[in-house]
Amino acid sequence: MDRQGEIDRVRLWFTRFADHYEAGGAASYARIARELAADDDMVGLVATLPEGNKRQPNLLLGAVRFLDGPVDDWAGFKAWVVEHWEPVRKVVLERMTQTNEVRRCAALLPVLATLEGPLGLVEVGSSAGLCLYPDRYAYSYDGADPIGDSPLVLECATSGGVPVPDRVVEVAWRAGVDLNPLDVADEQDVRWLECLIWPGTNEAARRERLRAAAALVAAAGPPPIVAGDLMEVVADLVSRVPAGVTPVVFHGAVLTYLSPARRERFAALMGELPGHWVSYEGWPVLPAVAGARPPVATDLTIAVDGRVVAWAGEHGQSLTWA
Ligand SMILES: C[S@@+](CC[C@H](N)C(=O)[O-])C[C@H]1O[C@@H](n2cnc3c(N)ncnc32)[C@H](O)[C@@H]1O
Repeated sequence: MDRQGEIDRVRLWFTRFADHYEAGGAASYARIARELAADDDMVGLVATLPEGNKRQPNLLLGAVRFLDGPVDDWAGFKAWVVEHWEPVRKVVLERMTQTNEVRRCAALLPVLATLEGPLGLVEVGSSAGLCLYPDRYAYSYDGADPIGDSPLVLECATSGGVPVPDRVVEVAWRAGVDLNPLDVADEQDVRWLECLIWPGTNEAARRERLRAAAALVAAAGPPPIVAGDLMEVVADLVSRVPAGVTPVVFHGAVLTYLSPARRERFAALMGELPGHWVSYEGWPVLPAVAGARPPVATDLTIAVDGRVVAWAGEHGQSLTWA
Protein backbone atom coordinates (compact mmCIF):
# COMPACT_ATOMS: atom_id res chain seq x y z
CA MET A 1 0.00 0.00 0.00
CA ASP A 2 1.30 3.51 -0.77
CA ARG A 3 2.07 5.95 2.03
CA GLN A 4 -1.14 7.94 1.57
CA GLY A 5 -3.19 4.75 1.66
CA GLU A 6 -1.55 3.76 4.96
CA ILE A 7 -2.18 7.21 6.44
CA ASP A 8 -5.84 7.04 5.40
CA ARG A 9 -6.25 3.61 6.99
CA VAL A 10 -4.78 4.80 10.31
CA ARG A 11 -7.17 7.77 10.28
CA LEU A 12 -10.12 5.52 9.54
CA TRP A 13 -9.19 3.01 12.22
CA PHE A 14 -8.86 5.67 14.93
CA THR A 15 -12.09 7.38 13.83
CA ARG A 16 -13.98 4.08 14.02
CA PHE A 17 -12.54 3.37 17.44
CA ALA A 18 -13.52 6.86 18.61
CA ASP A 19 -17.16 5.92 17.87
CA HIS A 20 -16.67 2.53 19.52
CA TYR A 21 -15.14 4.02 22.68
CA GLU A 22 -17.90 6.60 22.84
CA ALA A 23 -20.57 3.88 22.69
CA GLY A 24 -18.66 1.94 25.37
CA GLY A 25 -18.53 4.86 27.82
CA ALA A 26 -14.79 5.56 27.39
CA ALA A 27 -15.06 9.31 26.76
CA SER A 28 -11.37 10.22 27.13
CA TYR A 29 -10.30 7.43 24.74
CA ALA A 30 -12.95 8.60 22.27
CA ARG A 31 -11.59 12.16 22.39
CA ILE A 32 -7.98 11.04 22.01
CA ALA A 33 -8.77 8.68 19.13
CA ARG A 34 -10.73 11.38 17.30
CA GLU A 35 -8.05 14.03 17.77
CA LEU A 36 -5.34 11.59 16.75
CA ALA A 37 -7.17 10.74 13.52
CA ALA A 38 -7.08 14.45 12.63
CA ASP A 39 -3.45 15.06 13.61
CA ASP A 40 -0.98 14.62 10.72
CA ASP A 41 2.07 14.21 12.98
CA MET A 42 0.51 11.53 15.15
CA VAL A 43 -1.06 9.66 12.26
CA GLY A 44 2.38 9.67 10.61
CA LEU A 45 3.95 8.31 13.80
CA VAL A 46 1.42 5.48 14.11
CA ALA A 47 1.95 4.67 10.42
CA THR A 48 5.63 3.95 11.17
CA LEU A 49 4.47 0.91 13.16
CA PRO A 50 4.18 -2.39 11.27
CA GLU A 51 1.01 -2.63 9.24
CA GLY A 52 -1.99 -4.45 10.74
CA ASN A 53 -2.78 -5.08 14.39
CA LYS A 54 0.24 -3.12 15.66
CA ARG A 55 -1.59 0.06 14.65
CA GLN A 56 -4.66 -0.83 16.68
CA PRO A 57 -5.83 2.14 18.79
CA ASN A 58 -6.32 -0.03 21.89
CA LEU A 59 -2.74 -1.27 21.67
CA LEU A 60 -1.28 2.24 21.53
CA LEU A 61 -3.49 3.51 24.35
CA GLY A 62 -2.77 0.40 26.45
CA ALA A 63 0.98 0.83 25.91
CA VAL A 64 0.83 4.44 27.11
CA ARG A 65 -1.03 3.37 30.24
CA PHE A 66 1.41 0.50 30.80
CA LEU A 67 4.20 3.09 30.88
CA ASP A 68 2.15 5.29 33.24
CA GLY A 69 1.58 7.90 30.55
CA PRO A 70 -1.47 10.21 30.55
CA VAL A 71 -4.66 9.15 28.76
CA ASP A 72 -7.03 11.80 30.11
CA ASP A 73 -6.69 14.58 27.56
CA TRP A 74 -5.44 14.94 24.04
CA ALA A 75 -2.77 17.62 24.56
CA GLY A 76 -1.14 15.77 27.45
CA PHE A 77 -1.35 12.46 25.59
CA LYS A 78 0.20 13.79 22.40
CA ALA A 79 3.07 15.62 24.13
CA TRP A 80 3.88 12.54 26.22
CA VAL A 81 3.74 10.09 23.32
CA VAL A 82 5.98 12.25 21.13
CA GLU A 83 8.51 12.54 23.94
CA HIS A 84 8.38 8.83 24.85
CA TRP A 85 7.88 7.33 21.40
CA GLU A 86 10.74 4.80 21.66
CA PRO A 87 9.48 3.08 24.87
CA VAL A 88 5.88 3.27 23.58
CA ARG A 89 6.94 1.66 20.32
CA LYS A 90 8.81 -1.07 22.22
CA VAL A 91 5.71 -2.00 24.27
CA VAL A 92 3.53 -1.92 21.14
CA LEU A 93 5.93 -4.27 19.35
CA GLU A 94 6.28 -6.62 22.34
CA ARG A 95 2.63 -6.79 23.42
CA MET A 96 -0.70 -7.52 21.73
CA THR A 97 -4.30 -6.56 22.39
CA GLN A 98 -5.38 -9.50 24.52
CA THR A 99 -8.22 -8.14 26.63
CA ASN A 100 -9.47 -11.10 28.67
CA GLU A 101 -13.05 -10.36 29.69
CA VAL A 102 -14.26 -12.97 32.17
CA ARG A 103 -17.82 -11.62 32.11
CA ARG A 104 -18.20 -13.15 28.64
CA CYS A 105 -18.73 -16.38 30.58
CA ALA A 106 -22.07 -14.93 31.74
CA ALA A 107 -23.20 -14.61 28.12
CA LEU A 108 -21.83 -18.04 27.27
CA LEU A 109 -23.21 -20.02 30.22
CA PRO A 110 -26.85 -20.31 28.98
CA VAL A 111 -25.52 -21.26 25.55
CA LEU A 112 -23.13 -23.89 26.88
CA ALA A 113 -25.93 -25.24 29.09
CA THR A 114 -27.91 -26.16 25.94
CA LEU A 115 -25.18 -28.66 24.98
CA GLU A 116 -25.01 -32.14 26.38
CA GLY A 117 -22.31 -32.38 29.05
CA PRO A 118 -19.90 -33.01 30.52
CA LEU A 119 -18.05 -30.53 28.33
CA GLY A 120 -14.50 -30.55 27.03
CA LEU A 121 -13.76 -26.87 26.40
CA VAL A 122 -11.25 -25.78 23.78
CA GLU A 123 -10.90 -22.01 23.72
CA VAL A 124 -9.09 -20.53 20.75
CA GLY A 125 -7.58 -17.11 21.43
CA SER A 126 -7.79 -17.67 25.17
CA SER A 127 -5.42 -14.88 26.30
CA ALA A 128 -4.82 -15.66 30.01
CA GLY A 129 -7.55 -18.35 30.01
CA LEU A 130 -10.12 -16.65 32.26
CA CYS A 131 -13.02 -17.77 30.05
CA LEU A 132 -11.88 -21.39 30.22
CA TYR A 133 -13.33 -21.63 33.74
CA PRO A 134 -17.09 -20.99 33.42
CA ASP A 135 -17.62 -23.61 36.13
CA ARG A 136 -15.58 -21.64 38.70
CA TYR A 137 -17.70 -18.48 38.71
CA ALA A 138 -21.18 -17.69 39.99
CA TYR A 139 -23.79 -15.89 37.86
CA SER A 140 -26.61 -13.48 38.55
CA TYR A 141 -29.06 -12.87 35.71
CA ASP A 142 -31.24 -9.76 36.02
CA GLY A 143 -30.30 -9.37 39.68
CA ALA A 144 -31.58 -12.83 40.71
CA ASP A 145 -29.86 -14.94 43.36
CA PRO A 146 -26.54 -16.26 42.09
CA ILE A 147 -26.24 -19.60 40.34
CA GLY A 148 -23.08 -21.43 41.41
CA ASP A 149 -20.83 -21.06 44.39
CA SER A 150 -17.95 -18.66 43.87
CA PRO A 151 -16.59 -15.43 45.35
CA LEU A 152 -16.82 -13.92 41.86
CA VAL A 153 -20.40 -13.27 40.72
CA LEU A 154 -20.79 -12.28 37.06
CA GLU A 155 -23.88 -10.18 36.42
CA CYS A 156 -25.79 -10.14 33.16
CA ALA A 157 -29.05 -8.52 31.98
CA THR A 158 -31.18 -10.75 29.75
CA SER A 159 -33.99 -10.29 27.25
CA GLY A 160 -35.83 -12.37 24.68
CA GLY A 161 -36.45 -15.36 26.97
CA VAL A 162 -32.93 -16.54 27.73
CA PRO A 163 -33.08 -20.12 29.07
CA VAL A 164 -31.17 -19.35 32.26
CA PRO A 165 -29.82 -22.62 33.66
CA ASP A 166 -30.26 -23.52 37.32
CA ARG A 167 -26.64 -24.63 37.72
CA VAL A 168 -23.26 -24.04 36.16
CA VAL A 169 -22.11 -26.40 33.43
CA GLU A 170 -19.92 -29.39 34.19
CA VAL A 171 -16.50 -29.02 32.59
CA ALA A 172 -14.58 -32.29 32.50
CA TRP A 173 -11.64 -31.12 30.40
CA ARG A 174 -10.31 -27.80 29.16
CA ALA A 175 -7.49 -26.38 27.04
CA GLY A 176 -6.74 -23.22 25.14
CA VAL A 177 -4.54 -21.91 22.38
CA ASP A 178 -3.20 -18.40 21.96
CA LEU A 179 -0.48 -16.78 19.89
CA ASN A 180 0.81 -15.40 23.18
CA PRO A 181 -0.68 -17.03 26.29
CA LEU A 182 -0.64 -14.64 29.24
CA ASP A 183 0.13 -15.89 32.72
CA VAL A 184 -2.35 -15.05 35.50
CA ALA A 185 0.44 -15.55 38.03
CA ASP A 186 2.69 -12.99 36.32
CA GLU A 187 2.11 -9.52 37.77
CA GLN A 188 3.25 -7.77 34.58
CA ASP A 189 0.86 -9.84 32.44
CA VAL A 190 -2.06 -9.04 34.75
CA ARG A 191 -1.04 -5.38 34.72
CA TRP A 192 -1.02 -5.45 30.93
CA LEU A 193 -4.54 -6.90 30.98
CA GLU A 194 -5.57 -4.07 33.31
CA CYS A 195 -4.06 -1.50 30.98
CA LEU A 196 -6.20 -2.86 28.15
CA ILE A 197 -9.39 -2.03 30.04
CA TRP A 198 -10.81 1.25 28.79
CA PRO A 199 -11.03 4.12 31.26
CA GLY A 200 -14.52 5.36 32.01
CA THR A 201 -17.81 4.21 33.42
CA ASN A 202 -17.13 0.46 33.49
CA GLU A 203 -13.44 0.55 34.31
CA ALA A 204 -13.42 -0.06 38.07
CA ALA A 205 -15.83 -3.01 37.91
CA ARG A 206 -13.95 -4.60 35.00
CA ARG A 207 -10.64 -4.29 36.84
CA GLU A 208 -12.12 -5.80 39.96
CA ARG A 209 -13.50 -8.76 37.98
CA LEU A 210 -10.20 -9.23 36.21
CA ARG A 211 -8.23 -9.34 39.47
CA ALA A 212 -10.76 -11.70 41.11
CA ALA A 213 -10.85 -14.07 38.13
CA ALA A 214 -7.06 -14.05 37.77
CA ALA A 215 -6.73 -15.01 41.46
CA LEU A 216 -9.29 -17.83 41.06
CA VAL A 217 -7.62 -19.19 37.94
CA ALA A 218 -4.14 -18.90 39.46
CA ALA A 219 -5.38 -20.89 42.47
CA ALA A 220 -6.78 -23.56 40.13
CA GLY A 221 -3.28 -24.04 38.64
CA PRO A 222 -1.92 -22.70 35.36
CA PRO A 223 -4.53 -22.96 32.59
CA PRO A 224 -3.50 -25.47 29.94
CA ILE A 225 -2.91 -23.05 27.08
CA VAL A 226 -0.77 -23.98 24.09
CA ALA A 227 1.25 -21.21 22.44
CA GLY A 228 0.50 -21.22 18.74
CA ASP A 229 -1.82 -20.31 15.92
CA LEU A 230 -5.39 -21.47 16.42
CA MET A 231 -5.65 -22.95 12.92
CA GLU A 232 -2.66 -25.17 13.53
CA VAL A 233 -3.51 -26.29 17.05
CA VAL A 234 -7.29 -26.57 17.37
CA ALA A 235 -7.77 -29.98 15.73
CA ASP A 236 -5.12 -31.54 17.94
CA LEU A 237 -6.72 -30.09 21.08
CA VAL A 238 -10.13 -31.43 20.06
CA SER A 239 -8.61 -34.86 19.47
CA ARG A 240 -7.37 -34.85 23.08
CA VAL A 241 -10.82 -34.42 24.61
CA PRO A 242 -11.47 -37.68 26.50
CA ALA A 243 -14.14 -40.13 25.36
CA GLY A 244 -17.57 -39.49 26.87
CA VAL A 245 -16.91 -35.75 27.03
CA THR A 246 -18.47 -33.37 24.47
CA PRO A 247 -15.81 -31.28 22.70
CA VAL A 248 -16.78 -27.60 22.45
CA VAL A 249 -14.53 -25.20 20.56
CA PHE A 250 -15.35 -21.62 21.51
CA HIS A 251 -13.98 -18.12 21.10
CA GLY A 252 -14.86 -14.53 21.95
CA ALA A 253 -13.58 -11.47 20.07
CA VAL A 254 -10.83 -13.46 18.35
CA LEU A 255 -11.61 -14.09 14.69
CA THR A 256 -11.49 -10.38 13.97
CA TYR A 257 -7.68 -10.81 14.17
CA LEU A 258 -7.77 -13.23 11.22
CA SER A 259 -7.99 -12.26 7.57
CA PRO A 260 -11.39 -12.95 5.96
CA ALA A 261 -9.88 -15.89 4.06
CA ARG A 262 -8.56 -17.45 7.29
CA ARG A 263 -11.90 -16.93 9.03
CA GLU A 264 -13.55 -18.86 6.24
CA ARG A 265 -11.03 -21.68 6.53
CA PHE A 266 -11.58 -21.75 10.28
CA ALA A 267 -15.35 -21.98 9.84
CA ALA A 268 -14.88 -24.83 7.36
CA LEU A 269 -12.60 -26.64 9.80
CA MET A 270 -15.20 -26.29 12.55
CA GLY A 271 -17.65 -28.13 10.31
CA GLU A 272 -15.23 -31.06 10.10
CA LEU A 273 -14.39 -31.49 13.79
CA PRO A 274 -16.50 -33.52 16.22
CA GLY A 275 -18.55 -31.81 18.92
CA HIS A 276 -19.79 -28.22 18.87
CA TRP A 277 -18.54 -24.80 17.87
CA VAL A 278 -19.60 -21.72 19.84
CA SER A 279 -18.61 -18.36 18.36
CA TYR A 280 -19.04 -15.00 20.07
CA GLU A 281 -17.92 -12.42 17.53
CA GLY A 282 -18.90 -9.22 15.78
CA TRP A 283 -21.57 -10.06 13.21
CA PRO A 284 -19.56 -9.09 10.10
CA VAL A 285 -16.60 -11.25 11.16
CA LEU A 286 -17.96 -14.69 10.30
CA PRO A 287 -19.31 -15.44 6.85
CA ALA A 288 -20.87 -18.61 8.30
CA VAL A 289 -23.26 -16.51 10.37
CA ALA A 290 -23.64 -13.65 7.92
CA GLY A 291 -26.94 -11.89 8.26
CA ALA A 292 -26.80 -12.27 12.02
CA ARG A 293 -26.84 -8.53 12.59
CA PRO A 294 -27.80 -7.86 16.22
CA PRO A 295 -30.73 -5.61 17.13
CA VAL A 296 -28.33 -3.51 19.25
CA ALA A 297 -25.53 -2.26 16.99
CA THR A 298 -22.75 -2.72 19.54
CA ASP A 299 -23.67 -6.31 20.45
CA LEU A 300 -21.76 -9.36 19.29
CA THR A 301 -23.41 -12.44 17.82
CA ILE A 302 -23.32 -15.84 19.50
CA ALA A 303 -23.74 -18.84 17.22
CA VAL A 304 -23.67 -22.57 17.84
CA ASP A 305 -22.39 -24.62 14.91
CA GLY A 306 -22.87 -21.60 12.65
CA ARG A 307 -26.48 -20.95 13.72
CA VAL A 308 -27.28 -17.73 15.56
CA VAL A 309 -28.66 -18.35 19.05
CA ALA A 310 -28.17 -15.02 20.81
CA TRP A 311 -26.64 -11.57 20.82
CA ALA A 312 -24.56 -10.30 23.70
CA GLY A 313 -22.88 -7.17 24.95
CA GLU A 314 -19.26 -7.24 23.93
CA HIS A 315 -18.14 -7.68 27.54
CA GLY A 316 -20.91 -10.11 28.53
CA GLN A 317 -23.00 -7.50 30.29
CA SER A 318 -26.18 -8.42 28.41
CA LEU A 319 -27.68 -11.37 26.58
CA THR A 320 -30.60 -11.39 24.16
CA TRP A 321 -31.95 -14.75 23.01
CA ALA A 322 -32.52 -14.87 19.26
C1 LIG B 1 -9.41 -9.72 22.37
S1 LIG B 1 -8.56 -11.12 22.99
C2 LIG B 1 -9.92 -12.10 23.58
C3 LIG B 1 -9.51 -13.07 24.66
C4 LIG B 1 -10.60 -13.99 25.17
N1 LIG B 1 -11.15 -14.77 24.08
C5 LIG B 1 -11.72 -13.26 25.88
O1 LIG B 1 -12.88 -13.36 25.41
O2 LIG B 1 -11.51 -12.64 26.90
C6 LIG B 1 -8.07 -11.97 21.49
C7 LIG B 1 -7.05 -13.07 21.74
O3 LIG B 1 -6.91 -13.83 20.53
C8 LIG B 1 -5.55 -14.16 20.37
N2 LIG B 1 -5.30 -14.46 18.95
C9 LIG B 1 -5.42 -13.63 17.89
N3 LIG B 1 -5.12 -14.27 16.74
C10 LIG B 1 -4.81 -15.54 17.09
C11 LIG B 1 -4.40 -16.70 16.34
N4 LIG B 1 -4.25 -16.65 15.02
N5 LIG B 1 -4.17 -17.84 17.02
C12 LIG B 1 -4.30 -17.90 18.38
N6 LIG B 1 -4.67 -16.83 19.12
C13 LIG B 1 -4.92 -15.68 18.49
C14 LIG B 1 -4.81 -12.93 20.88
O4 LIG B 1 -3.47 -13.23 21.22
C15 LIG B 1 -5.66 -12.56 22.09
O5 LIG B 1 -5.19 -13.15 23.27
